[in-house]
Amino acid sequence: MGGHLVQKLGQSGHRVRCLVRENSNTEALQKLRVETMPGDILEPESLRGILKGVDCVIHLVGIIYERAHASFESVHYWGAKNVMDAAKDQGVPRFIHMSALGSSPGAKSQYHRTKWKAEEYLRGSGLRFTIFRPSVIFGPRDGFVNQVADVVRKAPLIPIPGRGEFQLQPVSVHDVTDCFTQAVTKDSTIGQAYELGGPQQLAYPDIVDLIADRLGVRKRKFFIPFDLMYPAAWFAQTFLSPPPLTLDQLKMMKAGSVCDTTDMTVAFDVKMITLREGLKEYL
Ligand SMILES: NC(=O)c1ccc[n+]([C@@H]2O[C@H](COP(=O)([O-])OP(=O)(O)OC[C@H]3O[C@@H](n4cnc5c(N)ncnc54)[C@H](OP(=O)(O)O)[C@@H]3O)[C@@H](O)[C@H]2O)c1
Repeated sequence: MGGHLVQKLGQSGHRVRCLVRENSNTEALQKLRVETMPGDILEPESLRGILKGVDCVIHLVGIIYERAHASFESVHYWGAKNVMDAAKDQGVPRFIHMSALGSSPGAKSQYHRTKWKAEEYLRGSGLRFTIFRPSVIFGPRDGFVNQVADVVRKAPLIPIPGRGEFQLQPVSVHDVTDCFTQAVTKDSTIGQAYELGGPQQLAYPDIVDLIADRLGVRKRKFFIPFDLMYPAAWFAQTFLSPPPLTLDQLKMMKAGSVCDTTDMTVAFDVKMITLREGLKEYL
């Protein structure tokens, strides 16, 4: 998201300052000629003073699997809280926050529960906020489509979790970045939370078919009951780095990720790019 958003903000005439960690790869950012500031959201002292003169903070940091020094609780909640506190202390007038579709206090996954906790803190912070909750995002360099495409290319058969009954609503990174960019200057979005989805709700096997069609690959699919996938996911998250699948990801998949996009399309000028159309750009 970050690379795409920085580019779009620049095209819209905004000057962008990015927080980067010491070991971050900043090659792509240097090409975009943005200002960078060293810091880590898990170290509140590193955020001191860096928001001086900033009109809007866009908080995008998130993780999809936990590591030794980065749990969902520490990154999604404590890290976000550090950034929100810094924005408040340093008088930043606007705060745009990246959450995720499905965030709720009773969600099955820790990913979604911690995203919800950050949203709640933001709602009580006094900041002039806008929250976005996208379904799975697709576009060049994405995690989801590229991972499925890799399996489609290399595996002899294509594994489908469960009976493939869960539905997703893939949303283009271009539509998501349009919403973020427009929200910066759109005061009517202050205090609102928007669910972001693409134009189609698709069952997982249909998404796999779209990707396989685009790649010109024809392979049989086979279904793996969720109960059999849980031990495999546990093994992957315990012994592999990065894990190709985690227990939390399986829970999120099973819950599905679809929404009503009426509020999104009323509030923002978006193209609503279909997955089929979007895949042509990078597969
Ligand atoms: N991708 C999706 O389908 C999707 C869907 C819904 C919501 N989201 C949310 O969208 C956001 C962006 O997702 P993405 O797919 O673009 O993820 P990503 O490529 O992994 O980007 C996450 C960014 O967070 C940075 N980061 C991680 N820990 C940090 C820390 N302690 N301090 C400062 N920066 C830190 C990473 O920096 P480094 O470059 O240094 O690693 C990276 O640039 C996340 O909040 C995610 O939960 C994503």
